[in-house]
Amino acid sequence: MSVTVLVGAQFGDEGKGKIVDYLAADMDMVVRFQGGDNAGHTVVNEFGVFKLHLVPCGIFKKDCKVFAGTGMVVNPDELLKELSEIKSKGVDVSNMYISSRAIILMPYHIQLDTLSEKGGTSIGTTKRGIGYAYADRARRNALRFEDLLDLQHCRKRIDTIIGTINAELSAKGGEPVTADEVFEKCKAWAASFGQMIVEPVTFINKAIERGEKILFEGQLGAMKDIDLGIYPYVTSSNPVAAYAAVSAGFPISKISEIIGVMKAFSSAVGAGPFPTEMEAAEGDGFRGDGKNVDDEFGARTGRARRLGWLDLPVLRYAAVINGFTSIAICKIDKLDIYDEIKVCTGYKLDGKEIDYMPSAYRLYDVEPIYVTLKGWKQDTSKIREYNELPLNARKYIEFIEANVGVKLKYIGVGPARADIIVKE
Ligand code: GDP
Ligand code: IMO
Ligand code: MG
Repeated sequence: MSVTVLVGAQFGDEGKGKIVDYLAADMDMVVRFQGGDNAGHTVVNEFGVFKLHLVPCGIFKKDCKVFAGTGMVVNPDELLKELSEIKSKGVDVSNMYISSRAIILMPYHIQLDTLSEKGGTSIGTTKRGIGYAYADRARRNALRFEDLLDLQHCRKRIDTIIGTINAELSAKGGEPVTADEVFEKCKAWAASFGQMIVEPVTFINKAIERGEKILFEGQLGAMKDIDLGIYPYVTSSNPVAAYAAVSAGFPISKISEIIGVMKAFSSAVGAGPFPTEMEAAEGDGFRGDGKNVDDEFGARTGRARRLGWLDLPVLRYAAVINGFTSIAICKIDKLDIYDEIKVCTGYKLDGKEIDYMPSAYRLYDVEPIYVTLKGWKQDTSKIREYNELPLNARKYIEFIEANVGVKLKYIGVGPARADIIVKE
């Protein structure tokens, strides 16, 4: 039995894409289990540089099946575009499957998201329609990929849902859509995706029974979970490990490993509290000018990411809610230039140290408690053995391990697949 779930341990963009691409070498299937094309997962390997939005990062491993799972909201046009871009770089994309139960993210979801973000209540979404696609799922007003398999039935579903969609579009000042135009899109998607759509529960459980190695790839991170994150500045799904089992429909007891991916410091995109946020100048060493693949600009939206020192309360919280069996830390090399590195070890709220993660509106008021660790001022990017890392880099890693209580097994020292140290 080998089911591994990999999730973000902070606010997203921790380096999940790089680690999934690395681990895929050993996998028979990689499944994306939530989110949509709000994701930007960067992969740098022998095929080139990719920022994947919907396609799971196992696509580069020959013979590895990749699966857009039930918990996802999939924009079919974006998926077709992405597959064709990947194919044009010489990658075989014939092993891509989509859950028949995955939600179809429609152009009107993007319109609604964009209109909402114009209002005074913007939360800085990626404007990819994510919240509205999940809202339609919750109110049972969405189309799923299974609807493309029977066009007569599909037309009836569109006629049923169209009134609610147009009422909402009109209320927000958007352009109404006709059932005919939605149906035309569905007919085209049916022709493009027919062969890829599979019944997910049998597909995945049979693979588990056959003893295949399966990796579930999460999107975003613990702090942006709709229930457990900084609500309302969150996404509209659950990027926590347990949701892999819920959405795919397999027993949670089948999960053998849960890998949390973290960055050596903190970053976030969008509005909301961010306790260890730095002054802009402090983060210059991390951010770069946008010319390098690993500069701190959003892989989906290109927005400059907000940057901060490492926040151990966030990591401990992520470890508690996910149950990490190991952690992968990315971007250790980005700390190479610092004389001193600040780490937040706890929070004070109303003058008292606290041992829980407060609600978002109270998180604005916490006072981070910092310790300062010594930097190593040495290039780590060529190092491949743990013991060859500078002493202070090892101390940094071991300080995190001791504070979070989870082993840091993978250490990223550069953006490419090969830039990794495995710590035994
Ligand atoms: P994801 O959404 O979690 O897959 O992460 P993103 O791809 O959005 O952001 C992670 C960024 O860090 C990308 O620019 C990666 O190329 C880069 N990256 C990942 N691991 C490392 C690492 O170990 N060192 C460096 N320098 N860059 C890394
Ligand atoms: P990956 O998978 C970083 C953020 C948005 C916004 C909030 C809600 O690459 O880590 P949404 O469009 O989901 O309704 O936006 O979540 N956000 C991300 N931030 N990385 C991502 O994905 C993100 N996907 C969404 O900035 O704050
Ligand atoms: Mg990203």
